[in-house]
Amino acid sequence: MAKSLSFTCTACGALHSKWSGRCDACGEWNTIVEEAPLAAGPAGKSLGAKRGRGMALGDLATIEAPPPRTESGLVELDRVLGGGLVPASAVLVGGDPGIGKSTLLLQAAAAFANAGLKSVYVSGEEASAQIRMRARRLGLGDAAVKLATETSLRDILTTLEAEKPDLVIIDSIQTMWADTVDSAPGSVSQVRAAAHELTAFAKKNGISVILVGHVTKEGQIAGPRVIEHMVDTVLYFEGERGHQFRILRAVKNRFGPADEIGVFEMTGAGLAEVGNPSALFLSDRETPQPGTVVFAGIEGSRPLLCEFQALVAPTPQSQPRRSTVGWDGARLAMILAVLEARCGIPFAGLDVYLNVAGGLRVREPAADLAVAMALLSAREDAALPAQTVVFGEISLSGGLRPATQTENRLKEASKLGFTAAIVPERSKTGTDGGLALRQFSDLAGLVGDMFGA
Ligand code: TYD
Ligand code: MG
Repeated sequence: MAKSLSFTCTACGALHSKWSGRCDACGEWNTIVEEAPLAAGPAGKSLGAKRGRGMALGDLATIEAPPPRTESGLVELDRVLGGGLVPASAVLVGGDPGIGKSTLLLQAAAAFANAGLKSVYVSGEEASAQIRMRARRLGLGDAAVKLATETSLRDILTTLEAEKPDLVIIDSIQTMWADTVDSAPGSVSQVRAAAHELTAFAKKNGISVILVGHVTKEGQIAGPRVIEHMVDTVLYFEGERGHQFRILRAVKNRFGPADEIGVFEMTGAGLAEVGNPSALFLSDRETPQPGTVVFAGIEGSRPLLCEFQALVAPTPQSQPRRSTVGWDGARLAMILAVLEARCGIPFAGLDVYLNVAGGLRVREPAADLAVAMALLSAREDAALPAQTVVFGEISLSGGLRPATQTENRLKEASKLGFTAAIVPERSKTGTDGGLALRQFSDLAGLVGDMFGA
């Protein structure tokens, strides 16, 4: 039988019937590759219903309760995992090459080993001597972690069978290679097969497995999204180049909240936990500058204050620049359109640059108002009142909608010495931390009041 071929996107794993330059599932360019299909099962065998057996949900209570979660002691990591590592769970940690995944997971392996888990760290990328050198640099020289440098899946499974660890870390899934699949390591079929084998083996044997996956921009190797559906928890490790701050963000978690973040700082001796991130993401605030606004945000279960900075400058170009770092470009375009259509403030002929300070990425719609005020403040060259935080969502009509967890935001701001807040009307403010509130029902009203437009 001739093998039929299919085409798969290496960034998101979507299947296509023919090749094209751009994946219409995820929008990435040059990520679609030809993949040989997985070999069919043994001929003549069909999937029988014999082994699958129904069970009432209530019966599950009689099955032995699973052992409790293990906390590593790295508070930022434990929080993102939903309160520690669940036994026999599969975790994927994705991130750009060089962001610090290996560093994080070596530290995690040592921390879990100290917490009593038998841990194995399998590297397909570095030699044992290199890992040892790194461990020494991180001050983990004598941690009770077993190291293996191996890429053959069969050998790894044999090792795990003999070692019977509680935790295995695979760095990285793209270097693993299963001899049952005849395509190159890093291809979609290899990455899928290796992830499937490893997670299935781990679940069966009560081992927790952490897979490292490199995010790739080009379609050379398959990205971690291809295996997101196979694991219980998906974490992304992110940060801007040139900033030492790293954020571990949960995007899927079967055992905890999915929007939690952990904040770390890359130092000369590995990743240090950052307990009070708000102080970190605020730059020096002695005298208020035009274009800067402090946003009181919420990341997961924690309030997090950060600073939006805007620059608006005239340009002779007919297509002015719209550039953002740490904020969605489409959302910026929407806010510019609302300012123009609802408040009569045009940005044509003006370049607009918008940054979130410190390399943070903000996704909350509650930051809309902070963005709008940063833009206005930059455009009018007028600084906002000192010690003031801002939050609220902007609708297309120009109305302001209250954000969630108003009280937590205000409390955090008060804790950090802020004295006033600009918020939408009807924001729930039982205990507002003693901040002076200025409330507005729509953007036009706010603009008229604060910028005299
Ligand atoms: P690494 O963990 O190898 O990244 P990844 O596994 O995601 O590819 O980290 C690489 C970067 O981290 C490298 O540029 C050096 C830096 N680093 C430090 O700044 N301090 C340290 O203690 C370590 C181990 C690495
Ligand atoms: Mg690495």
